[in-house]
Amino acid sequence: MDCIEKLLQGLPLQASEFIHLIENREEYRSVLQAEAAAKTKQFFGNKVYIRGLIEITNICRNDCYYCGIRKSNANVSRYRLTDTQILQSCAEGYAAGFRTFVLQGGETQTDYVPLVRQIKKRFPDCALTLSLGEKTREEYEALFDAGADRYLLRHETADMAHYNRLHPPAMDFSNRMRCLKDLKEIGFQTGCGFMVGSPGQTPETLAKDLEFIQAFRPHMVGIGPFIPQADTPFGAQPAGTVELTLFLLSILRIMQPRLLLPATTALGSIEKGGREKGLLCGANVVMPNISPMFARENYVLYNHKLYSGAEAKEGLAILQQELSKIGRKIVFERGDYQP
Ligand code: 5AD
Repeated sequence: MDCIEKLLQGLPLQASEFIHLIENREEYRSVLQAEAAAKTKQFFGNKVYIRGLIEITNICRNDCYYCGIRKSNANVSRYRLTDTQILQSCAEGYAAGFRTFVLQGGETQTDYVPLVRQIKKRFPDCALTLSLGEKTREEYEALFDAGADRYLLRHETADMAHYNRLHPPAMDFSNRMRCLKDLKEIGFQTGCGFMVGSPGQTPETLAKDLEFIQAFRPHMVGIGPFIPQADTPFGAQPAGTVELTLFLLSILRIMQPRLLLPATTALGSIEKGGREKGLLCGANVVMPNISPMFARENYVLYNHKLYSGAEAKEGLAILQQELSKIGRKIVFERGDYQP
């Protein structure tokens, strides 16, 4: 059986087969995109879930070579939102219709348990997603017990040597994988993911990402093109492409039809219409920014990051217009993973 047949039948692929698909993607693109669109429609109809993204701090103890808020970047004006500011952002998001809030921030020692409790108490009908980096199993358990529902932690790459090319020696591939395993075991709806076109990425490392996802079976996967940020060691590296991102989105949708798969901000930022293309290739989630404006301006992971218009809560009407052109509509539901 050839690898397309296997993929379409939901059978596991080997690394060599993923490599074959990626290297010959011109040949396979249209059939996989059509199948991904069909699966999206079958499992989600025309629904697109929205998540209100709050960038709670750009303070970070890590020094990832690709990331604009890495600790060595002295050109960042650092902030941390107060609990009051975060609750206010949630309240504004709630009024706009959001029923999932995503707290994303750099990695710090802060204990977010009291904040999680307050948000869940004040907005009991909302899902709360955290994206706050690596923590101990006990810390993850405490956040789950406080009511957090989901956790996003991109694995960044499933190849150890590639991981070490993207991160300084203080960061450990096996700890990241430990975190993901703990999160899923604890009961979080768990998301992993990676950048497309990060320096040193090859069809071989991408095949490892897909094999990892195939075995791990996350509930969410975030992928978007790598976009250089001028103040980082990778500031002069080429960006990833929309084309390869879309191809990988299609594969992910076919591999795991129920996956919550965002058309990421990076995909929308790198090319006008990128978000819509993502939705046409299998994505079913968008994450508009609901942070206070000063936070958005300083949460610069990469250059030219969108944070207004259809990328923001102020632009939901614009977003809806753009989605209706592609036959889709925003739904104001929690949008949990359905096993
Ligand atoms: N380009 C694209 N994505 C980036 N991220 C960090 N820096 C960049 C960049 N320069 C992604 C990482 C991280 C997520 C929050 O943002 O994958 O996990």
